[in-house]
Amino acid sequence: MQVVAAWPGADPEFGAVPLGFSGPRGVRCLLGPRGGKDEEQILESSGYFVTFEGIEGAGKSTQIASTRSYLAARSIEAVVVREPGGTEVGDRVRDILLSPLKEPLAPLAELLLFCASRHQLVTTVIRPALAAGHVVLCDRFADSSRAYQGFGRGLPLDVIEQVNNVATGGLEPDLTIVLDVPPERGLNRVELRSGAAPGDRFETEALDFHRRVREGFLQLAREAPRRVAVVDAGRPAEQVTRAVLELIEHGIRRRLGT
Ligand SMILES: Nc1ncnc2c1ncn2[C@@H]1O[C@H](COP(=O)(O)OP(=O)(O)OP(=O)(O)O)[C@@H](O)[C@H]1O
Ligand SMILES: [Mg+2]
Repeated sequence: MQVVAAWPGADPEFGAVPLGFSGPRGVRCLLGPRGGKDEEQILESSGYFVTFEGIEGAGKSTQIASTRSYLAARSIEAVVVREPGGTEVGDRVRDILLSPLKEPLAPLAELLLFCASRHQLVTTVIRPALAAGHVVLCDRFADSSRAYQGFGRGLPLDVIEQVNNVATGGLEPDLTIVLDVPPERGLNRVELRSGAAPGDRFETEALDFHRRVREGFLQLAREAPRRVAVVDAGRPAEQVTRAVLELIEHGIRRRLGT
């Protein structure tokens, strides 16, 4: 099967080029006009792994849904997963992590629970999907542990690195998109979204906590500029989507070395 995607690039507003994907053995890109000739390449390690990060209410779910629809309209079925969760075990862990608890959850226990869910997700869903050549869109991943348990809770970053590595087996996203909004704005969106429903364990943290987490994401982006891109997510959702799709296209091109 081969599918050619009219990437946003077909639209002069986006200024990019058409890309295409095919499965099941690798993400295949048909490179159009910019390469000067029609050219077909298969990404070396098959699949393309994109993670979406950001504080509460930054717009991760919204942007993943838009990206998925965009790809689906071009017959590209992305595998969409979220953390914590995405598996039966992970969903149960999610419940522990997000529901209010009577006793405080020790930061290291919190990290280990996130990483238990992450390991289950990586081994049973993400790696097989990538091996089959799929685009994987993941709502939060290892950077959330760095930002929340590191910058937010104060756990040493080297401990987080070790545990993350054990959980992921060294798997890194090809592209991480940090959706950046001031915490006040993000939390306000969450409030509007949830109505009277009480917030989860993270949503109810103090503003200062969310500020540290946001700064953490920005710091991570500065440290890994080739992998992590920051998008101003305070803009209207459609503008954010445009930036997100451009990054994904650009990321794939960079992987292809074009
Ligand atoms: N760019 C935007 N401008 C205004 N509102 C937005 C924007 N993006 C998302 N929203 C709205 O803000 C709310 C939060 O967005 P969303 O659920 O996508 O955030 P999230 O990052 O997934 O949050 P969470 O961390 O709680 O999962 C939703 O009601 C959504 O419709
Ligand atoms: Mg969400």
